[in-house]
Amino acid sequence: MFMKLLTPGPVQIPREVIEAFGKQPLFHKLQEFKEVFREVLEKLSKVVMGTPIVLPGTGTLAVDTMVYNYVNPGEKVIALTYGEFGDRLIESLESRGAEVFRLSVGIGRVPPPDVVEDLGRRLGDVVAIALVHNETGAGCVNRYLDKLRDVANSLGTLLLVDSVSGVPAEPIRCCVDVVATASQKAFLAPPGGAILYVNTEPRAKYPVPRSMNLSKFLNRIKDLETPYTPPINVIYGLNASLDYILGMGLENYHEVHRVRAEYLYSNLRLTPVAERSCRSCTVTAFYTDRAREIIDLLRRYGYVIAGGVGSIKDYSVRIGVMGDVSIDDLKVVTELVNEYVGK
Ligand SMILES: Cc1ncc(COP(=O)(O)O)c(C=O)c1O
Repeated sequence: MFMKLLTPGPVQIPREVIEAFGKQPLFHKLQEFKEVFREVLEKLSKVVMGTPIVLPGTGTLAVDTMVYNYVNPGEKVIALTYGEFGDRLIESLESRGAEVFRLSVGIGRVPPPDVVEDLGRRLGDVVAIALVHNETGAGCVNRYLDKLRDVANSLGTLLLVDSVSGVPAEPIRCCVDVVATASQKAFLAPPGGAILYVNTEPRAKYPVPRSMNLSKFLNRIKDLETPYTPPINVIYGLNASLDYILGMGLENYHEVHRVRAEYLYSNLRLTPVAERSCRSCTVTAFYTDRAREIIDLLRRYGYVIAGGVGSIKDYSVRIGVMGDVSIDDLKVVTELVNEYVGK
């Protein structure tokens, strides 16, 4: 029976990626595995600036790893939030014992960089600005990363970014101290790979468990080794999905997502959660008081979309446009939803 994922992730992944993933895992100390690992690291390096690290885990582990290796208890952090995953980033920072200054101008709205800078100047001694690049809960993207890089430089702070549902479809073009992401969304691979891009040495003064100790990973990566078993089959999947993405070209890959998302924003008779200037190209989110009914209706036609999260859980739906999704799929979804809400 026909089923297609129009989800925030895991997404509908290309057949060649599934075939690459479904293989006998090699012993990770064999030269044959190291060759594949080297190829994947080289391809990952073409997507975002920094040294790529792959841990066995998902986006949550990537974000916690970023937090625990760069923030120490008692340190001041400015955390921007515009939805559920921004709130979870704050939860992670607080669990590390950071003194978090939450900056929010509402769900689906991105605080301007000058407001971040003013707050940083007023507070003083801030060690990091932390934020979600692409807020999956609100379909909202922060397109000010270049400006925030300048703000971070002028304040002398780190810039820590959760881009779990952003890169490579929502690009990051500037140098970010650490980007935390994952394999199962715009990287088009199965879940199980927590990916970090590192541009600054870890600075943890307190112990970090081995599972997320970035210094140990960085020490061994030049020999294509990891401090414990890597997610071998996810690495096979990434090898194929990165060929697909890089083969398309990064700018083109972004453009394809922009066109898909724009189709929904322009044609769906629902109100987007995010303000126009910051609407995501990977995950769209719309307000509706008939979320459950819309999800069930589409499911009957084989399309899987997601409900809301956080405080707008019962009043929104999310439609992902990453992966093997065509405009024809989006047309069917739009017609079904519009007919339903028009009734
Ligand atoms: C922005 C963002 N951060 C973190 C996460 C957590 O990732 P995971 O579910 O892979 O652990 C997600 C998952 O949707 C996300 O969208």
